[in-house]
Order: sequence, then C-alpha cells, then structure tokens
Amino acid sequence: MPEQPQHRTAAEYWDTFWPSAGEGSGGVPDASRMRWTQYPFHGPGAEFLGRPKTALEIGSASCVAGVALARTGVEVTCVDFSSHQMERAREWWGDEPNVTLVEADVLAYLDRTDQHWDCVFSNWGAAFFIDPRVLLPLVLPRLRPGGLFAFAQVEPLAPCFGPQIKYGNGYRGEKLAIVRWMLSNRQWTETLERHGFVDVEVVTLPGREPGWVGTTMGRAYAP
Ligand SMILES: C[S@@+](CC[C@H](N)C(=O)[O-])C[C@H]1O[C@@H](n2cnc3c(N)ncnc32)[C@H](O)[C@@H]1O
Repeated sequence: MPEQPQHRTAAEYWDTFWPSAGEGSGGVPDASRMRWTQYPFHGPGAEFLGRPKTALEIGSASCVAGVALARTGVEVTCVDFSSHQMERAREWWGDEPNVTLVEADVLAYLDRTDQHWDCVFSNWGAAFFIDPRVLLPLVLPRLRPGGLFAFAQVEPLAPCFGPQIKYGNGYRGEKLAIVRWMLSNRQWTETLERHGFVDVEVVTLPGREPGWVGTTMGRAYAP
C-alpha cells in the first residue's frame, strides 16, 4: 500500500499546497505588500513590475501576490489549475476589486485567450513548474509591445542547474513527476532571448543572511 494519499495529476498535487487550506490555519492571508522572496521583509515589492495597468499572475495559488498588486491599482487576473487553491482564493478574494480569478491550466489559458497584458508574472508560480521552452512562446504574444515578463523562484544550487524532479507521490506510489525548472541565470537569459524577449535581466538576490539560499529574479520585455 502507498504510504500517502495518491495524486493522479499535478493539479491534484497542488491542491495540497500550503497554506494547507487556510482552514484553521489563520484565515485570510496578509496581502498588504507584494513579496517576491522566501524571507519576510526582504527584497522588492510591487515596484519590481514597474507601473503596469494590467497584469496576469500565472500559477497564483493563494493569489496573495496578485491581490497585493491589485491593491496598488493594477487590474490583475490570477490563473491556477488547482481547484482547491482557486476555491479558497474565491472565498478570500471573490469580492476584491480589480481581481479576476480563473481556474485553468496556464498553458491552455494562454493559448485560448486573446487578451493582452502590460505584465505577465510568476511569483514562485507557473514559470517554476513549466518547461520554459513551452511556456515562453505562449507568454510573449500575450504581452503588449514593451510589456514585461517577470518571475521569481528559489535560487538553484550548483551543480544542479536545469529541471529537477520531485516524486509527487513519493518513491512508493504512483508515478507523478512534479518538475521544478531551476535554470542558472545564464540559462534563463539565453532561453528568454532565444524566445524573442529583449532587455533580459536575471539575477540572484542573496538570502537574508550571508550564505543563505537566495532568490532567482528575472525580468524580460516584449519587443
Ligand atoms: C508554489 S505555488 C505558487 C505560490 C503562490 N505565489 C502563493 O504565494 O501562494 C505554484 C502554483 O503553480 C500552479 N501551477 C503549476 N503549474 C501550473 C499550470 N500548468 N497551470 C496552472 N497553474 C499551475 C500550482 O497549482 C500552484 O498553485
């Protein structure tokens, strides 16, 4: 017998992602400031995105980042394919001004929408978990000319640069690959440029203390 409940899909896997349901764990999260790193009170806030009027958050889970951005006056759409994450987000943010919540696979959504945004961003979201060679060709045409693609996720550590697998059902269950795309800054830069983005800047923001794990932060623009 497997030792833990089995997820059949990645969306089901993400149904169990923090904050495990908000039920009994503090209720509505703090969305007073946009955060990009794993450390509280560390790194930039919404200014990392410049001054967009519209934005799309891909892989939004709690939607805290999107809601914090919306509270600065930006019209934000948050997309995630986990029904549990989106159900909870609808409970928390269903009446939030400037926020549209969409339950969908990011790839399918980007493929079918004819909307354009000033900014598409991933706050430890879909860009962390989707092959950039698949994601980026769908993101670029959805940006207005000069629009920004921005992302943040954990810094990869040498020697492991590239896709890294997590066994979604552990080692003793059904096969389910959850892949983290942990490229080096140079790999990210080359991949973004190869897919038509310009003015690419991918950096590592150091952790809060010397020697602590940092955050990969990237910005790239549509021509
Ligand atoms: C680490 S969480 C994002 C955390 C989020 N920034 C927060 O603060 O709650 C990654 C999210 O990406 C979503 N995701 C991954 N691949 C996706 C895809 N193909 N389509 C839609 N959402 C996806 C997962 O469902 C998950 O909710």
